[in-house]
Amino acid sequence: MKELLGKPGFLAAHGTLGADLSFLMALAFTILFLIGWRMGKKKQGNRHHALTLGAMVSMLAYFTVYYLARGLGALATEGKEGFGGPAWLYSYLFTPLLTIHITVVSIGLVLAVYMIVLGFRVAVRKNGHRTLQAGPLSMSMGAFYKILGGAFALFAVIGLIRWHSFARLKVYIAGFLLVAVVLLIEKGIERWFPDGERRHRTIGTFTMVLFVIG
Ligand code: HEM
Repeated sequence: MKELLGKPGFLAAHGTLGADLSFLMALAFTILFLIGWRMGKKKQGNRHHALTLGAMVSMLAYFTVYYLARGLGALATEGKEGFGGPAWLYSYLFTPLLTIHITVVSIGLVLAVYMIVLGFRVAVRKNGHRTLQAGPLSMSMGAFYKILGGAFALFAVIGLIRWHSFARLKVYIAGFLLVAVVLLIEKGIERWFPDGERRHRTIGTFTMVLFVIG
């Protein structure tokens, strides 16, 4: 699989088949999100829910499988070898753009999971039609500690099973810290946007914009 993805691609002179596949998949997912966003705007809650949820879960699954198959690290795997242009272009344009892309996509991925959870928390079905419930939406301290404890237990178990170096352990510690930071940010967001409906629409719009520019 790794060899196949590393073969020369068909879209650019120096690209790999894996890079071409990812580009086409990213394009397809962006189009699906734009359609899902339009459905949300047109108050088609059921269709918006089905499309955004399906597209987000498929996207997360695709990129997880892709990076595992490829051996991870966009900068490390593509590196200078995957870049056919002059050195100045690599340093002054390619690397900064790739850094911005990775930053935007990393924030976008965390937001994707956050938005799916928020969607389920705030959407209600009335006469078979899904709408957003207006009114205050907050996480109880009990739920906060349960999720934090659950994440700690999960990462600790995975860390113990898959332990073989300190570098790998750091990844699991980072995973747990990410959950903790998102929970703390959610507590802050609850103060700025107490209304669940407004929170879903505002952060949802921001997430969609990030996906389109990322
Ligand atoms: C990454 C995931 C998601 C994103 C980025 C997102 C984004 C959005 C945005 C931007 C809107 C407002 C559109 C507008 O008024 O301009 C919206 C509306 C809505 N979303 Fe989501 N959403 C996501 C997932 C979900 C999920 C999983 C559900 C249900 C469980 C859901 C249910 C709804 C509903 C019911 C509406 C309101 C439709 C109406 O106005 O009647 N969303 N969403």
